Formats: sequence, structure tokens, C-alpha cells
Amino acid sequence: MKIGERENFGSKLGVVLAAAGSAVGLGNIWRFPIETGQNGGAAFILLYIICIIVLGMPIMLSEFLIGRHTHANTAGAYRMLAPRTQWKWVGRLGVFTGFMILSYYSVVAGWTAEYAVLAASNAFEGKTIEDFPRIFGEFASNPWKPVLWLIAFLVLTHVVIVRGVNSGIEKFSKILMPLLFIIVVILVICSVTLPGASKGVEFLIKPDFSKIDSSVVLSAMGQAFFSLSLGMGCLCTYASYFGKDTNLAKTVLNVCVIDTFVALMAGFIIFPASFSAGYALGPEDIGPSLIFITLPNVFQQAFAGAPVLAYIFSVMFYILLVVAALTSTISMHEVATIYLSEEFSMSRRKAATIITSCCIVLGIFCSLSFGVLNGFRMWDMTIFDLFDFASSNILLPVGGMFISLFAGWHLDKQLFRDEITNGGIIRAPYFRVLLFILKYVAPLAICCVILNQFGVLF
Ligand code: PFF
Repeated sequence: MKIGERENFGSKLGVVLAAAGSAVGLGNIWRFPIETGQNGGAAFILLYIICIIVLGMPIMLSEFLIGRHTHANTAGAYRMLAPRTQWKWVGRLGVFTGFMILSYYSVVAGWTAEYAVLAASNAFEGKTIEDFPRIFGEFASNPWKPVLWLIAFLVLTHVVIVRGVNSGIEKFSKILMPLLFIIVVILVICSVTLPGASKGVEFLIKPDFSKIDSSVVLSAMGQAFFSLSLGMGCLCTYASYFGKDTNLAKTVLNVCVIDTFVALMAGFIIFPASFSAGYALGPEDIGPSLIFITLPNVFQQAFAGAPVLAYIFSVMFYILLVVAALTSTISMHEVATIYLSEEFSMSRRKAATIITSCCIVLGIFCSLSFGVLNGFRMWDMTIFDLFDFASSNILLPVGGMFISLFAGWHLDKQLFRDEITNGGIIRAPYFRVLLFILKYVAPLAICCVILNQFGVLF
């Protein structure tokens, strides 16, 4: 393929699976259960679903239509729709945010690969609750092992990206996403049928509204953004490969349903197994400790009488994490690669190589912040924490706010309507409500999330 030529996704299934692959990731399987556990179980889930419908869907639709209309990388897209204005910075901010998330996200993705290997080599059998913090602590602070996994994960992502949109992103999404669904279903069945698992199921379906306060509402909003890959031009970039006949609203609905389904199912994997093992997830199960310390122990205890089942369950769980992380890293890498390739007229391979190399360097700093660089802190945060906080809690919401302002106020209404109706073919009775949300509701709500991060509001 020559420089400047563009591919499109080849099928409707490819479109949905690639976009869902970006959305479904560590955010669903790791972050969602933690947030649910800490914020009141079913009551949080209800709020989360409201956030997906009221904020997530309109912003995702905006990203889709901006990308599909311009058929350009995210920075180019804003430049084309708003020439000679500063809106191009929204696209550039997205590329920067994606690059930052990719750097630290690949560190955790690398850990999931190490744990998949540990699980497969039966390293967890016979281990007790005292062993797992030590195993994880030794691994994460090791100067070279996590770095090697980080490099391996980024190189794997690189290989898919270099193959292009059809033979890379679409083909791998079509293989990896069905595999992910199969693993999810098997793990849910195993977990909910464990003795004593019903308490975990109850926790997920019986809302406790007394836990709901303003900060829980804001956590639900933040989680919805991260989980749907919103606010950094990722879905805008994927939509630039959609064909003119893609039904944007239907694709939004499909992606949101799949993403929410996988997040809920992750809850049905983790909570029933934890309750069955007699372990109630608590405030200490935040960050990496849930999947790398608590859960390997929970799986051993829950299947204490059947080591073979504990083995199979653990292996499948960590493979699930690897697959979910890979489809997401691919999407983040693509945002930056196509930006470099189109804006600086370079081949896909060269652009991807630059991005992979830079992410490896930044990723190494993030990785070492669990070991030798642990003492190096800014605003009391390690490099890893800083990257996580700045990108997920500030840059993504800021990006999302500007996307909704752009779509609601700047974008030509006729262009907007034409895109979501495919030139008048599809009905869009929700158009006015959508515009109202994009103009007022979403920017205001997101503004509250950001102010809350800094303790200004609550
Ligand atoms: N949505 C991904 C997850 O839930 O893990 C994370 C993510 C991917 C965030 C791509 C942002 C992004 F652009």
C-alpha cells in the first residue's frame, strides 16, 4: 500500500468487533469490578449504565461521525472540519493521550502475560494468601522481567498494526473477540456454580442505594469513559475506516452492549468466586493488587478440592486478560501510527516503528517505577501513577468534553444529520435530544468530573 492510501474495514462484523475490541479491555475485567466492589455493587452498576446511555452513547456517536465523515486520522479530522481554527488541538490531544495510556497500559498488559505463563506452569498450586503478595512484589520490582514482557507485548501489538487495517486489526479482532466471549462464558458458568457463590451474585444484582453519593456518580462517569475508549480519538480513528453504508447509531449500540456485557460478566466471574472462597473484596483490593494478588489466591481457595479446575480457571482468566488488553493496545497504537503516517507522510511501518520504540522507552520508566525508580515522585505519585492519573482522570474527560462541545456547537447540523442518517436513509428521531445532550448535559457533567478530581467540588 502506498503512502496516503487508505483501507476500510471489510465487513460489518469486522467494524463491530474491532470497535468492541478497543472498548473491551483491562478496564472491563479489572477496573470495573474494583469500582463496583467499592461503590455499592448493583447500585453502582445501575448508575454506570445510565452514564453509558446518557453520556457514552452520544459522545461515541460524535466520534464515529467525525471519523467516518473525514476519513482521516483524528488530528486531520478536526482540521478538515474546522480549518484554520484551534480545534485541531482536540485531535492532537487525543493522539498524545493515547500514546500516554499505551505506555503504562502495556506494562500491566505485560504483567497479565507473565501471569498467564505462571498459571499455565501451575506455579500457583499450593500457594497461600501469604505467598501471592510476595510473588507479585518480587516480579513487579524485578528490573528486567516486567520490562521484557512490556517489550514483548508492544512488539506483538506492532506486528498487528504493521499488517494494516484489514489483515491486521480486522483479522485479529475477528479471531480474538470470539475467543474472549467463549472464555468469559465458561468462566462465568464455573464461578456462579461454586458453593456459596450466590452471595456474590446477590451483591451484583441487589442495589444498596445508601452507598450512592456524588463521588460514586462521578466514578461511574469516569469508568464509562475509560471503558468505552472515549475522549482520545480512538473510535474516531476506527470510524475513519468505516464504509459509507455503516449504520453509526446501530454500531454505537452494539459496541456499548458488548462492552457493558463483558464488564458485567467480569463481575460475575470475580464476585461469586471471591464470596465462595470466603473473601470479601475490600479497599485494599485496588489497583494491580486485585488481579495479581487477590484473585490468584481466590481461585486456589474457591477450587480447593479440585486443583485441576483451579488450574484451568486461572489459565483461562489470565488468557482472557491478555486477549482483552491486546485488542485495546492495538486500537491505541493505531491512533498514533495513522497520525504520524498521514500528517508526516511516512510509511505505516516507519510510523509504527517510531511509536513502538517511544512507547517502549516510556513504558520502561513506568515499569521501573515499581522497582528502582519507586522513590522518584512528582506530586507524590510514581511515574506509573502519574501517567495513569493524568491520562485517565484528566486528559480523557477533557478530550470527551471538547468532543461533545465540537459536535454540539461547531459541527454543521446538516452534516451531522446526514452522517447519522446515511444521507436520509436511516431514521434518527433522537436527533434533538442528542444535540441537547452534546451541547449542555455532557460538557457540564464532564466538567463536574474533572473539578471533582481536584477536590474542587465535593
Ligand atoms: N477501553 C479500554 C479498556 O476498557 O481497557 C482502555 C482504552 C482503550 C482506553 C483505548 C482508551 C482508549 F483509547
